[in-house]
Amino acid sequence: MVRKIGVLTSGGDAPGMNAAIRSVTRIALRNGIEVVGIRNGYKGLLEGDMSLFNRSDVSDILDRGGTKLGSARLPEFKEDEIQNKCIENLNNNGIEALVVIGGDGSYRGARSLTEKGINCIGLPGTIDNDIPGTDFTIGFDTALHTCVENVDKLRDTSSSHHRCSIVEVMGNHCGDLALYTAISCGAEMVITPETGFDEEEVLEKLRYLGDVMNKNHAIVIVSEKVCDVDSLAHKVTQNTGFSGRATVLGHIQRGGSPSAIDRVLASRMGEKAVDLLMEGIGGHCVGIIDNEITSMPIDEALESPKTSRKKLYRLFDRLV
Ligand code: ADP
Ligand code: F6P
Repeated sequence: MVRKIGVLTSGGDAPGMNAAIRSVTRIALRNGIEVVGIRNGYKGLLEGDMSLFNRSDVSDILDRGGTKLGSARLPEFKEDEIQNKCIENLNNNGIEALVVIGGDGSYRGARSLTEKGINCIGLPGTIDNDIPGTDFTIGFDTALHTCVENVDKLRDTSSSHHRCSIVEVMGNHCGDLALYTAISCGAEMVITPETGFDEEEVLEKLRYLGDVMNKNHAIVIVSEKVCDVDSLAHKVTQNTGFSGRATVLGHIQRGGSPSAIDRVLASRMGEKAVDLLMEGIGGHCVGIIDNEITSMPIDEALESPKTSRKKLYRLFDRLV
């Protein structure tokens, strides 16, 4: 039976990470398991930056954005030697197992530590919704609300000025945040890694919307890293009847109090992580599939294909 576990947050922070830390801590303590909070992801593990948590250490964080533990990226964690030093630190502190809250990079680290004898469970914490093995990640719903709130505001000014707002949202290489925002806000166009980007096609469509459909404004949601939104806005002004304006929502999407959906999701996933560790299971990640909390080997999750969003793209097209 596991007696002492660690918990850390790694990679880009996401609203709801605190709710996950709280859940892991409270569920473990209730089962007589000690919990160590490790600061700044794998960096804290390497530096031995950690302390024992009691119940009240995770009080008043459920509604807070960011992560109480801090997060970091440590590229050298891929190296064997660095991982061995971390294993040594875990052993020296009597930590027998670990819950890693982060993205797929963090999952790979968790898999390596499990192979080296410390059972790790990965929880999907990222606003990008780009982690295999789950329908939704912790933080996605909150970030989506932030996007929707801001795009709604842009629509007010955009419609008053016969403008086309080009809005860049995050997502890394995953178009989910853009697609869900576009559907939620009634955008005219969405550009993501899945749709691809053809500048001439975009301009042609905007001319059609303005000249044929008599639309007096338009909203285009763009996934980051797909095209340069400033340049696109400039081209829109030059080549269509709209005046183009680019807005990059940026890191505000990562902040804010987590939505109720994210708080519940994080709490459920935290519970599952502790249950798995108590069963002696490691190298797994937790997910939510068809509203059931599930788990699968990290290897299997990393190899599984991304869920198709074809039906949602089709719905978007039919609603424009
Ligand atoms: P995310 O976990 O959000 O995908 P990153 O890809 O930046 O974010 O990964 C977070 C951290 O996980 C990295 O800084 C590194 O410490 C660790 N990591 C990433 N890839 C690997 C890997 N292949 N093997 C071991 N650790 C990794
Ligand atoms: O993974 C979360 C995320 O916010 C991505 O959407 C984005 O591409 C990246 O992190 C930004 O990273 P940074 O915080 O290092 O600028």
